[in-house]
Amino acid sequence: MANALDEQAPPSLPGGVAVVGRGGAGGSAPLLRVEHLVKHYGGVRAVDGVSFTVAAGTITGLIGPNGAGKSTVLSVVSGFTPPTGGRIWFDGRDVTGLPMHRLARTGLVRTFQLARVFGGLTTLENLLVAAPRQRGLSPLGVLGGRFVWGAEERRLVERARALLRRFGMASKADDYARTLSGGQKRAVEIMRCMMMRPRLLLLDEPMAGLSPRLVVELEQILVELRDEGLALLVVEHELETVDRLCATVVAMAHGRVIAEGTMADLRTRREVQDSYVVG
Ligand SMILES: Nc1ncnc2c1ncn2[C@@H]1O[C@H](COP(=O)(O)OP(=O)(O)OP(=O)(O)O)[C@@H](O)[C@H]1O
Ligand SMILES: [Mg+2]
Repeated sequence: MANALDEQAPPSLPGGVAVVGRGGAGGSAPLLRVEHLVKHYGGVRAVDGVSFTVAAGTITGLIGPNGAGKSTVLSVVSGFTPPTGGRIWFDGRDVTGLPMHRLARTGLVRTFQLARVFGGLTTLENLLVAAPRQRGLSPLGVLGGRFVWGAEERRLVERARALLRRFGMASKADDYARTLSGGQKRAVEIMRCMMMRPRLLLLDEPMAGLSPRLVVELEQILVELRDEGLALLVVEHELETVDRLCATVVAMAHGRVIAEGTMADLRTRREVQDSYVVG
């Protein structure tokens, strides 16, 4: 198993392979199930009865025209904002209404449409601040003192450096994040999510603003992460990318799911063509 990023994988993630059996019979239960999800902002029905699933170890696409409600789905599913109605199950557990930090601990993590980095910290530090400290408050951590902390910190730094190498950003480790390009900041945000060891990563337009070369590189990285067991739900306007990455695609318009299938299927569907100019 050559995944340097999972050297500390918890028992529930043997060898970096996503748990498909936990909470589901024989691994066939979806990792994420969203049912009749509703989010209203005042009179705006941003999400209006959305249901879909994401299988473990797959990349699912979420497409639709501007204002369809895609980012709002990510916000609600990730616990960034509570739903007005509906239910969310993650790994067989009802997680509806749990706040973002609790969901992150269970392995469900998102990025934002506009990348958020700490400009006054270095790239490496941006990754380290995201890492969950496992021993900070435990009796072992207290008794172990600096020795335990030192070992843990070292592992976190190793993990962060492995991510930086994977994303081709090792040479930027000590640069302040504010000096990075838009694409590099986006990569930092994704790496910061990976420091949390997610089992499901929600990405909001990861390819936006990237050069064609970087799009290809990021696609490659996402496929590798999937092959190592990570499930991804990707909101993306770049439909060629969706076609290449996503086994299943959910199409939204006006806060609702209007079609679901492969990207090739969706291109032929009248309701998708009508609401969304499929390229
Ligand atoms: N915090 C908010 N307060 C009020 N209205 C909101 C809020 N967030 C989103 N909306 C509205 O909800 C609807 C769905 O927005 P959302 O950002 O989810 O769409 P989207 O599919 O991600 O669009 P885009 O492709 O442009 O990113 C829009 O009408 C938007 O104006
Ligand atoms: Mg959006």
